[in-house]
Amino acid sequence: MGSCDSTMGLSTTLFVMVFLFFGVASMKNLAYFNETGYLPCHFTNSQNISLGELVVFWQNQDKLVLYEFYRGKENPENVDPDYKGRTSLDKDNWTLRLHNVQIKDKGLYQCFVHHKGASGLVSLHQMNIDLSVLANFSQPEIMLTSNRTGNSDVVNLTCSSAQGYPEPKKMFFWQTTMNSTREHDSVMNIFQNNVTGLYNVSISLSLSISPEKNASILCGLQPEPPQTQLLSPPYIIGAKPTEPPLPALEPVVTASVLIPLIIFLCGIVFCVRLKKRKKQQPGPAHGREAIKAEGEESKQTEERVENRVPERSDEAQCVVNSLKMASSDRSAAHF
Ligand SMILES: *[C@@H]1O[C@H](CO)[C@@H](O)[C@H](O)[C@H]1NC(C)=O
Ligand SMILES: *[C@@H]1O[C@H](CO)[C@@H](O)[C@H](O)[C@H]1NC(C)=O
Ligand SMILES: *[C@@H]1O[C@H](CO)[C@@H](O)[C@H](O)[C@H]1NC(C)=O
Ligand SMILES: *[C@@H]1O[C@H](CO)[C@@H](O)[C@H](O)[C@H]1NC(C)=O
Ligand SMILES: *[C@@H]1O[C@H](CO)[C@@H](O)[C@H](O)[C@H]1NC(C)=O
Ligand SMILES: *[C@@H]1O[C@H](CO)[C@@H](O)[C@H](O)[C@H]1NC(C)=O
Ligand SMILES: *[C@@H]1O[C@H](CO)[C@@H](O)[C@H](O)[C@H]1NC(C)=O
Ligand SMILES: *[C@@H]1O[C@H](CO)[C@@H](O)[C@H](O)[C@H]1NC(C)=O
Ligand SMILES: *[C@@H]1O[C@H](CO)[C@@H](O)[C@H](O)[C@H]1NC(C)=O
Repeated sequence: MGSCDSTMGLSTTLFVMVFLFFGVASMKNLAYFNETGYLPCHFTNSQNISLGELVVFWQNQDKLVLYEFYRGKENPENVDPDYKGRTSLDKDNWTLRLHNVQIKDKGLYQCFVHHKGASGLVSLHQMNIDLSVLANFSQPEIMLTSNRTGNSDVVNLTCSSAQGYPEPKKMFFWQTTMNSTREHDSVMNIFQNNVTGLYNVSISLSLSISPEKNASILCGLQPEPPQTQLLSPPYIIGAKPTEPPLPALEPVVTASVLIPLIIFLCGIVFCVRLKKRKKQQPGPAHGREAIKAEGEESKQTEERVENRVPERSDEAQCVVNSLKMASSDRSAAHF
């Protein structure tokens, strides 16, 4: 008989608990770190009970009181020091604002509404709020930790993102060359600040970069939903110059000097040939007469002079021309 009674008592207790569990409204809410969180009570005063007869309070999962509204006004007496000065009440819809939300503020909250009438305290309404706290990670950023050297095409990169919550799911590098994209997953280094509870995360990658292609590297961070994926600005690693800078400069200098020089020399050779050809041909009549008229000289001298006078101007003109060509080519070679 006794054992039967106690079983009945237990099942009644269970029934009441389940009833209460289903009878209490509950909701989930989300707040951002260092901002304001909202703890709505969803109480509608359908019985038009005057504020002077209402007792409304919020408590956390450790039963510490955040705020108490006692018969028409705020009652700070029962409020836990952790919440002093951090709350404010919106009386229109019975929503408590929790300011400067911290990571440790996540958890379950309860709001109770009682009617303090002649017959004592009567429970009117209860609300459970499950508050989760998020902090947006900063945009991931790629940094070069070791560069390519002359004999190695390996670069080491680190990507980091800071001050987020909760711990992200994964972090990765994307390498894009001309028409291919490769994902590199690496193990996340996770650091949690033990005061704020926020995470800093980073990944590192040692990558062999093809020296003749441009590479673009992106870093992505996949946080827990509902936070969305974050991407770093692209980090561009340019193709290596095909030749070391000094020898690469020399051909340019050589060309700008050598080409006009060659043209100039060619011009001179051309002029000399022209002179020779003219020597073989009979000279212009006026030149010969002029020289003859000057007087008696040796045939050798006469021939030399006779040929030089008209041709010196020809030759000079020719050289000037080839100089002009050479200098115009030089200025062309500069641009
Ligand atoms: C919190 O926000 C204030 C401005 O609203 C800002 O000055 C402060 O740096 C923030 N603190 C953290 C830890 O983000
Ligand atoms: C409550 O008061 C409003 C006006 O303030 C009135 O319209 C409504 O009928 C009242 N309800 C009850 C249940 O007394
Ligand atoms: C309560 O009312 C305020 C404006 O008075 C509004 O900003 C807030 O969203 C409301 N909260 C709820 C839970 O309805
Ligand atoms: C966090 O990021 C989301 C978008 O992902 C944005 O809607 C929200 O306003 C951000 N919150 C803060 C506090 O920066
Ligand atoms: C890395 O080396 C390349 C040449 O290979 C150079 O252009 C670049 O400026 C270097 N970057 C850093 C951060 O030293
Ligand atoms: C985490 O990131 C913040 C912001 O970039 C920085 O101030 C802090 O020193 C970082 N902490 C660690 C341990 O790296
Ligand atoms: C990239 O595309 C070009 C043509 O657009 C193709 O010839 C080449 O094979 C491709 N390279 C890779 C790595 O897919
Ligand atoms: C680059 O990273 C690799 C792999 O983590 C490491 O073995 C190497 O020493 C690093 N190089 C430099 C110059 O730090
Ligand atoms: C790399 O990028 C630079 C600048 O965008 C471009 O001038 C160059 O042609 C590219 N080189 C290759 C090999 O794609």
